[in-house]
Amino acid sequence: MSSEIAFPSPQHRRHGSSAGQPLTRRDGVLKVTGRATYAADNHPEGMLYAVTAVSSIARGRVTALDVEAAKAHPGVVEVLTPANRPPLSHDPDDKIPPFGFRVEVLQDDTVRYVNQPIALVIAETLEAATEGAALLNPQYEVESARTGLENGERFDTPAVGVGAPSRTAYGDIDAGLAAAVRVTEADYVTPPQYHNAMEPHAVVAQWDGDRVTLDMPNQALALSCAAYAAYFGIPAGNVLIRSPFLGGGFGSKAILNGPQILAILAARMLDRPVKLALTRAQMYGPVGHRGQTWQKLRLGTDGEGRLTALHHHVLAATSSFDEFMEPAANASLPLYASPAILAEHDGLRLDTGTPGPMRAPGEASGSAVLEVAMDEAAIACGMDPLEFRLANYAETEPGTGKPFSSKSLRECYAEGAKRFGWSGRPLEPRRMRDENGFLVGWGMGTAVFHCPHFPAEARATLRADGTALVETAGADMGQGAWTALAQIAAEALGLDPDQVELHSGISSLPDGGIAGGSGHTASAGLALHNAGVDAIARLAELATADPASPLFGAGNIGVEARSGRLHRRDDEGRSESYSEILARAGQAEVVGTAKAARDPAVAEAHALFSHGAVFAEVKVDPDLGQVRVTRLVGAFAAGRIINPRLVRSQYFGGMIWGISFALQEEAVTDRRTGRIMNADLAEYHVPVNADVPSLDAILIPEDDPYVNPLGVKGVGEIGITGTVGAIANAVWHATGVRVRHFPIRLEDLL
Ligand code: MOS
Repeated sequence: MSSEIAFPSPQHRRHGSSAGQPLTRRDGVLKVTGRATYAADNHPEGMLYAVTAVSSIARGRVTALDVEAAKAHPGVVEVLTPANRPPLSHDPDDKIPPFGFRVEVLQDDTVRYVNQPIALVIAETLEAATEGAALLNPQYEVESARTGLENGERFDTPAVGVGAPSRTAYGDIDAGLAAAVRVTEADYVTPPQYHNAMEPHAVVAQWDGDRVTLDMPNQALALSCAAYAAYFGIPAGNVLIRSPFLGGGFGSKAILNGPQILAILAARMLDRPVKLALTRAQMYGPVGHRGQTWQKLRLGTDGEGRLTALHHHVLAATSSFDEFMEPAANASLPLYASPAILAEHDGLRLDTGTPGPMRAPGEASGSAVLEVAMDEAAIACGMDPLEFRLANYAETEPGTGKPFSSKSLRECYAEGAKRFGWSGRPLEPRRMRDENGFLVGWGMGTAVFHCPHFPAEARATLRADGTALVETAGADMGQGAWTALAQIAAEALGLDPDQVELHSGISSLPDGGIAGGSGHTASAGLALHNAGVDAIARLAELATADPASPLFGAGNIGVEARSGRLHRRDDEGRSESYSEILARAGQAEVVGTAKAARDPAVAEAHALFSHGAVFAEVKVDPDLGQVRVTRLVGAFAAGRIINPRLVRSQYFGGMIWGISFALQEEAVTDRRTGRIMNADLAEYHVPVNADVPSLDAILIPEDDPYVNPLGVKGVGEIGITGTVGAIANAVWHATGVRVRHFPIRLEDLL
């Protein structure tokens, strides 16, 4: 089946060495010419269309659905409701680890949030299914919705995020606060935000007996296969997920959700392929979001501006029926030296869909607030914000005392400040104006992101013509994985990247791990690297054992793979091409395989983080309060850079999310109904080009001998973490107004 997907033939110009080159995206041409097929572009023979009918209330019960009217509509084939939904083999309330979420699959008539699926209408056409869903005319027993602090239900939680502890204490926080010369304390709020990937969640499901093929965008292919297999009572190997292209994910496509499961169930029930694509509005509920937080920061400082205590308390919203909470306070654990740090979370149950991982879950909302609090503390100490951060620089991981595997934050501060021109900054706010009389402000924030590593597998096949095929079931959401992963494989294979064909995005390939946590390049990349090394070792065995080879007797240790040839280390002139070795051995190919995971001892011995510093300039209209970001400079250190073009692009993306978080994004809830009032891309504001200034992302060289054998950290999410606070602090510097909620709006500044 994988042959149905057209992989591009490599089109790169030759660059000599493989990793480290700024190659353009392999899939770029396919995408910009419309030849990339996304999940919903698939139309198998005999396909039906499914549309979810969704609740318009946030809490209560569905008392009636006019199923007869829907079924009577021409073209409607079936209507699934809690009354006739076929059984699943796994209880949807019983979460499947490691990314276990309860899924809404019509298990009862209870309504727990707006846009919850309450029925699935399947029809011969999309129009008929849509009309059928409209004819259901649901009746409800309505209970008042719990929409915020005033009526949400507080609870203690042992865990936040995906299994992180909800409370971490280093040192004695009360003693630290008591020892402080001054304590700055403030409350902050971050809003609910929704992923809003360009491509809504979709699936085309086709059953063949007890095997199912799913065209769907997916960030975690192998884990998803296992979970779908559990729900449908089939072996994991019977689930084939094809996800060659994703139109963005941001975390929302790593998690299973109810609508997609229902569509797969309908396809089995009706024995025909079924397509479901959520509407934009329907994505505001069942497919995750970033939950709201209410945060309190208390920073104790001594006479020299050094922290004596850092207390970060977060009240984090979740749904009424599940647990995921934004692990925001944990952003205060790895960054600043303090003898006492307390990071703690409480939960607040609201009648919303369950939050999930979204664009630096925890770090984004936690560091946004921490960086503003640090700015406030710096001002209280009469110090420049950068000087204040340097005074609190953590040489080892705060609390644990572990050495960092590498940390080049000092260099990030220095390079970023130099490029930005930070040294000219007045301490006092409202001191700078531009030629139009706009208030100008400069702010900064520190960026940090952890370096998770997911188990992954790969295969590398060296072919008789001297080219290679490398395979791993990774996911490219637009970050350029196809390109960067091929470069890593090419390096291990001693080939040019355009001699390496990469297959990815299909679950029948070796498990590529998860495209999340900014860990995909390191995870899938290490597997590919190891597979390449294995293939070369096998090839070397053929050559060094063959008396007819110039490499005879060299032994594995004594050859090096370069430019499609194995060379003797002790004699550069004696070499043989891969093709020659394979031809003489009478083999069409040699296949290397590998599994790769992080050695637990690595994380035991070292603290593993990427770092950065972001500097922002804003201009504020003194009459209208309108804020424009006019300059953003980020300097980031994330270990070895595989492809500087793609990495810079990742940083730009993260910094643009930061603009979005600081000034634009918020899902606004109607307190009366629990409905989201701006559930569309017209009113849910994200930056457009006019909102984005020229961006500068500086790649700070960093050699990390520990994080993994490639020395690669992660670059996908760190850009957002420093940017939000930098912009908020620049707004203060421009106006003298401290806004302690996001997004910052013009009315906050009037
Ligand atoms: Mo991401 S929120 O790790 O996909």
